[in-house]
Amino acid sequence: MSSFPMDWYQNGSLRSSDASSNAAETDEKELDFSKVDKPRGLERCKSCEVNSLSELGKDGENSSHPVDHLENAASLLPNTSTNTPGALVLDPHPHPIVSEGWEALRRSLVYFRGQPVGTIAALDISDEKVNYDQVFVRDFVPSALAFLMNGEPDIVRNFILKTLRLQSWEKKIDRFHLAEGVMPASFKVFHDPVRNRETLIADFGESAIGRVAPVDSGFWWIILLRAYTKSTGDTSLAELPECQKGMHLILNLCLSEGFDTFPTLLCADGCCMIDRRMGVYGYPIEIQALFFMALRCALQLLRQDNEGKEFIERIAKRLHALSYHLRSYFWLDSKQLNDVYRFKTEEYSHTAVNKFNVIPDSLPDWIFDFMPLNGGYFVGNVSPARMDFRWFCLGNCIAILSSLATPEQSMAIMDLIESRWLELIGEMPLKVCYPALEKHEWQIITGCDPKNTRWSYHNGGSWPVLLWLLTAASIKTGRPHIAKRATEIAETRLLKDNWPEYYDGKLGRYIGKQARKSQTWSIAGYLVAKMMLEDPSLLGMVAIEEDKHLKPVLRRSNSL
Ligand code: GLC
Repeated sequence: MSSFPMDWYQNGSLRSSDASSNAAETDEKELDFSKVDKPRGLERCKSCEVNSLSELGKDGENSSHPVDHLENAASLLPNTSTNTPGALVLDPHPHPIVSEGWEALRRSLVYFRGQPVGTIAALDISDEKVNYDQVFVRDFVPSALAFLMNGEPDIVRNFILKTLRLQSWEKKIDRFHLAEGVMPASFKVFHDPVRNRETLIADFGESAIGRVAPVDSGFWWIILLRAYTKSTGDTSLAELPECQKGMHLILNLCLSEGFDTFPTLLCADGCCMIDRRMGVYGYPIEIQALFFMALRCALQLLRQDNEGKEFIERIAKRLHALSYHLRSYFWLDSKQLNDVYRFKTEEYSHTAVNKFNVIPDSLPDWIFDFMPLNGGYFVGNVSPARMDFRWFCLGNCIAILSSLATPEQSMAIMDLIESRWLELIGEMPLKVCYPALEKHEWQIITGCDPKNTRWSYHNGGSWPVLLWLLTAASIKTGRPHIAKRATEIAETRLLKDNWPEYYDGKLGRYIGKQARKSQTWSIAGYLVAKMMLEDPSLLGMVAIEEDKHLKPVLRRSNSL
């Protein structure tokens, strides 16, 4: 991270003597929080109306799926169709970890000129070289949800507005100007001792290791704006011209036309939570699922003015193509696996069955044992002659929450998690990806990354933050006992180990080699999971119902 505060500020654009830094001082032009309308009703608004393409004037159909009306999520408890041991009994007395967690979360608050604007990535910043002293956009999401669920939306509003201002600044890396819509990966508050004034410093990827692009930040920002609106019932924030513009800029970036033959979004490695080289370049499922979810959230938030309407049309078209593509080509279950195994290659024309010319010999050995008879998931990546068969947790959970996964696919994902409990949950939830890259593969794919050695960090490490996503997905599929059991496992260690960032080992038994302690999203992820288990109606904040207009093309195979 460069530590340059702003040198000067001109025409609303940031200039700095260090061309590679994106530091900024907020001055009088800064959007004043106090001038923004306070939420009209601050009580929790738990309802989750059906918001879908049907909002575009088409009639919604009544759905028979049990979770189509998320406000009824509470009625999903308890669930009986389970093969996971441990019945669901809600605890009337909060676990002692909960109060400790809240204290730790509050300690992580970051203030800018007296206002809370985010949470620090980790309070344990013993190693000065690293950038855990910053507010990361993706890391703040679980914190924001915890505050929203606790009826404290102000910090979330402040964060949304502050990051919006950062988006509007000129962004430059070396001599290259970044696109207008790019949201920062992270920012921090810098105290300028000379002027005795606080300034903000943002990182758009130029200071991150490997100069990785934070493609997920803009998507999380839109998803958070929708969560805020849903939970407070306050539509005035999203309706602000500044927020509409921020959304337009993000959408312009990801909806723009190029040379692509796929509706998915082409990305470089390290563009998301996995922000180091891990072979996720191409069309990583994490980004595709977040893209899909952000588009669906944007549909609910965009104003129907001229510009808004244009975006709504573009989004509708893209969602159609995107859901078709992902549900057809990224989905893998035992039937699909068998089909790939028997694929012919070198097929041309529209009649090709093996559309991407995936060579069956590229199927890794582990997949045949990993794939249960009942169950399936969205694979990590699909592009010409390349299917990355690895399981990635975040993308699959977001696929469930956004209803990118059909109800059958959602159930199959949860079936897979239950069948592969040891591999994916083990002794600490949850594996960020499975399996680990080892030996030669690790050398070639990670570039010999010493932080991403096998079963560590992004390479098969276990990340407690993912608990909130698993919990939301479990509740949405009517199987909260899965999350309950995983949460109980996490509770045996999280506080004792001082909220590590990640755990290592096949079972997640060991505190990660280089894991920070007091990692904020580990704390917030746990708290959000607990709150949702207590009150499943909170799910509406982070889940979207199935859109009947996005016709499923691929049902779970009949053989299941
Ligand atoms: C690591 C993680 C990234 C996270 C950051 C801050 O770089 O890989 O996902 O945002 O730490 O916690």
